Amino acid sequence: MFESLTMAPPDPILGLTDAFNEDTNPKKINLGVGVYQDASGKTPVFTSVKKAEERLWRNEGTKNYLAISGLAEFDKQVQGLVLGSDTALLARAQTAQTPGGTAALRVAADFLKVACKKNKIWISNPSWPNHNNVFQAAGIEVGTYPYYDITEKTLAFDAMMEALRAIPEGDVLLVHGCCHNPSGMDPDVDQWKQIAAVAAERKLLLMVDLAYLGLGRGLEEDAAGVRLLCQSGCDVLIAASFSKNFGLYRERTAGLILIAQDADAAKRAFSHVKQSIRANYSNPPSHGGSVVATILGDPELRQEWENEVADMRGRMQEMRQMFVDTLKAKGVQQDFSFLIRQNGMFSFSGLTKDHVKALREKYGIYTVASGRINVAGMTRNNMDAICQAIAKVL
Ligand code: LMR
Repeated sequence: MFESLTMAPPDPILGLTDAFNEDTNPKKINLGVGVYQDASGKTPVFTSVKKAEERLWRNEGTKNYLAISGLAEFDKQVQGLVLGSDTALLARAQTAQTPGGTAALRVAADFLKVACKKNKIWISNPSWPNHNNVFQAAGIEVGTYPYYDITEKTLAFDAMMEALRAIPEGDVLLVHGCCHNPSGMDPDVDQWKQIAAVAAERKLLLMVDLAYLGLGRGLEEDAAGVRLLCQSGCDVLIAASFSKNFGLYRERTAGLILIAQDADAAKRAFSHVKQSIRANYSNPPSHGGSVVATILGDPELRQEWENEVADMRGRMQEMRQMFVDTLKAKGVQQDFSFLIRQNGMFSFSGLTKDHVKALREKYGIYTVASGRINVAGMTRNNMDAICQAIAKVL
């Protein structure tokens, strides 16, 4: 029967990494997948992570299964990190440790479909391409709302609000908690308040994808929007990934936070989340979650980790500025200063499919076909080559 199958298309992001790895061009540069690279172009293990791992290796006494919801200490620490010290909110929250943000989203999707009987989710246009796959695989239809104004290179806030007001009552609304992927454009605090108000008015169920906490303006600043949504009166699910902000990509580490109207409702709803986990992967792997729990629970390691996140953030902001300046110095007429106003790893550069193709074929520079570039792939050393190539293809 397998003979009848044709090739599935390559993944628009991870398929690009495969192509990059196969490319023999010694000058190749990867601005595709959302992975942080340091000033020397490496993706190192955080020092705080290494220290936590050493401690775990010494102290780990069993490889027995974790609970369906993972390590209790991880779940507690993650809630504190994302939701803050608001105890009223913490009292009506439940959290599960999941194998990466994608599993958090998939568990949420199954829970939404099976337990909450939800049939439709609304995602931003544009969004992370895998949102479509994950929710459709769970049998949930995906609709879109306008988000990014490609001409003005800014948030299409009015159009977005108009679309949100038209979403049928009770549907699910997915938002990116910070560092929107792929545009890098986030709502400001006042805009988050307006989004929260419309969500409450439409009685929407909120699904927050939070994959870049701390990589925009700061850990607290980046959590402000999510916390406002949690206060809106809506039920909320948050997929909080630790791939980027702990550099734990291959350890598949994330938390799925559920916030209900009160503690009892949260417990009841969470029992269905656990059923979805059991049917998907039974219970999560331990390592990544143990690392995160160790770091967040130890004041010294936590400080060291916060400093490492601040360094990443600072380097990406520096690269954004340098990219804009270098393009100008190369005589590029187009204004790229919008990059300075964007947050996190990504920018929707405005490069067309033809530009993307030419960059890859002629210069070995890989960006996502949509024109998304990962500024964390830029360094002082490769900046000149990147900007020279862009100046040539424009
Ligand atoms: C990305 O958007 O590049 C990352 O989130 C990696 C992925 O899994 O797509």
